Amino acid sequence: MIIVKSIILLMIILFIHNKLKKRIEIEPSRNELPCEIEKTPQINNILNRNKICLNGKWNYIIDVQDVGYYDYRMNPNKKGFFKNEKPKYPEELIEYDFDKSPEMEIPSDWNTKDEKLFFYEGTVWFKKTFNYNKKSEIKAFLYFGAVNYESIVYVNQNLVGRHIGGFTPFNFDITDKLNEGENFIVIKVNNQRKSENIPSLIFDWWNYGGITRDVYIIETDNIFIQYYSLFLDKNSQNNILFNGELNLNISDKIIEVSIPELKVKQKFTSINGKFSGVIKANDIILWSPENPKLYNIDLIFDNKTLKDEIGFRIIETSGKKILLNGKPIFLRGISIHEEKYNGGGRVNCIEDARKLLGWAKELGCNYVRLAHYPHNEYMVREAEKMGIMAWSEIPVYWGISWVNNNTFENARNQLTDMIRRDINRVNIIIWSIANETPKINERDIFLSKLAEQARYLDSTRLISMAMQPKRVNRYNFILEDNMNKYVDIISINQYLGWYNNIKFFNKIVLEIPYNKPIIISEFGGGAKYDYHGKENQRWTEEFQRNVYINNLQIFEKIDGLVGTSPWILKDFRSPRRVLNGIQDYYNRKGLFSDKGEKKLAFYIMKEWYNKKKEEFK
Ligand code: GCU
Repeated sequence: MIIVKSIILLMIILFIHNKLKKRIEIEPSRNELPCEIEKTPQINNILNRNKICLNGKWNYIIDVQDVGYYDYRMNPNKKGFFKNEKPKYPEELIEYDFDKSPEMEIPSDWNTKDEKLFFYEGTVWFKKTFNYNKKSEIKAFLYFGAVNYESIVYVNQNLVGRHIGGFTPFNFDITDKLNEGENFIVIKVNNQRKSENIPSLIFDWWNYGGITRDVYIIETDNIFIQYYSLFLDKNSQNNILFNGELNLNISDKIIEVSIPELKVKQKFTSINGKFSGVIKANDIILWSPENPKLYNIDLIFDNKTLKDEIGFRIIETSGKKILLNGKPIFLRGISIHEEKYNGGGRVNCIEDARKLLGWAKELGCNYVRLAHYPHNEYMVREAEKMGIMAWSEIPVYWGISWVNNNTFENARNQLTDMIRRDINRVNIIIWSIANETPKINERDIFLSKLAEQARYLDSTRLISMAMQPKRVNRYNFILEDNMNKYVDIISINQYLGWYNNIKFFNKIVLEIPYNKPIIISEFGGGAKYDYHGKENQRWTEEFQRNVYINNLQIFEKIDGLVGTSPWILKDFRSPRRVLNGIQDYYNRKGLFSDKGEKKLAFYIMKEWYNKKKEEFK
């Protein structure tokens, strides 16, 4: 009898379990985004292409629950906001209207444009109406300089594609989506942090969301040069290596590359859409911080000329030295976040770039570490003109989903797009693949593949990543990182005297047992501007100054030190810095305050760089 009862009980439990399971399965979460639309490879040298600017006022709708994308059953909504619809008859129910919604000046981050969005992480929809005159035999590409973080793009209600990654450009072919006359773009932007993203859930900067860089329609011929690179052959300073790529895999097309000042003109013939070859030139003036020489370049294809300004130099390592054009250099650097010099928000124009780079020059810099993601093209091109070398980085930052294939593909796409955009920017000397990542096997596999990809895409620059030494006892630190064999430069972030109390700095030993050049990619400490006191009083300018004085004394002892980029040029917004009255959601490690005032430590660093400049004359 007991057995029968047990069997009946078991059957009842199983029945309920299956019922419950079935109910959960009935409504699968349909969170998938639209299938991947054929992505157009990124077109480079946008600034010199034929383009129509779509910057300006865009309407926007804050959509906390993605009602513009999913119905209440979490199924993609066929009448979503991408339709940009109006009621066709009086009783029609449409619960949104872009034209009655507020406007935002684009490009910008939404956080500093609408106080409701200061901390916001979620979806905002943007809509832009514009007129367009269709031209025969002309292709049109919709180009975004950057959108943070995930975007889905529609033109005249047609899905044209989606993009993941908040700091790299992307473009979609919209030729057959455009109408003659009035058109509209709708873009769904979401900046929610996710563990599988790049960067992942936590990072020490503000999660600025939105269309943060320029928006253009790029107009090209049906067949055009979508990508090209020009750089000096490491083995012969009279050879310029040219590589080019048509948008179609066709052969026997002719391109002519002209560098008037060098009195060279050379033709190349495509093979399956690709060009490559050598341009011989004499008396090339090499680019350097002292003489940031750029040459006017004309790329003539199908009777159209694409212009650029390109410099030539050789960057390489020799033992523990970095050689620029064969000469040892010291990188007098500073780390910079892409944040406006006045009041925060993303840098998105040439004036912002010039201001920040001007401060770096004031400090005595010949180098900037553009942390922790690819900065806008204005920063890179202005630094190039000002003779400032640069480190450019993808945001593979702290903890990442190392064994998630989609995460790796995302990182690799961001690396590819970073290199593709700036391949011709002579001042970029270092590609960085990561910042302060854990020393685990999964991370080594992930990053070594990224290093391999970077070298495949660009054999001319140096590869690095910010590593972290470990403390072995009271005064001894050592760097032990398997990634040492995959990088050209050993870069170290180390906050002696800030994240660890150091009583006797002069006893500190930083051991780096690798025969490669060493950069201290981050060091420093925080101070609230104009807060003064004894040098042992945390957050005073005197405390920060003392951290700098002591760290620089330690760095002087490092054999093979070829550069420093203290953290950081200016105080920047961070949700991780909540000490009321001191941080107030700012990371206070800047040498400049968030209002552009110099702190005492600025002068310590400036004096040290003056000395370094003399040493490496
Ligand atoms: C880390 C990290 C930075 C961060 C800094 C700090 O090294 O790389 O992104 O802002 O330290 O703690 O201020």
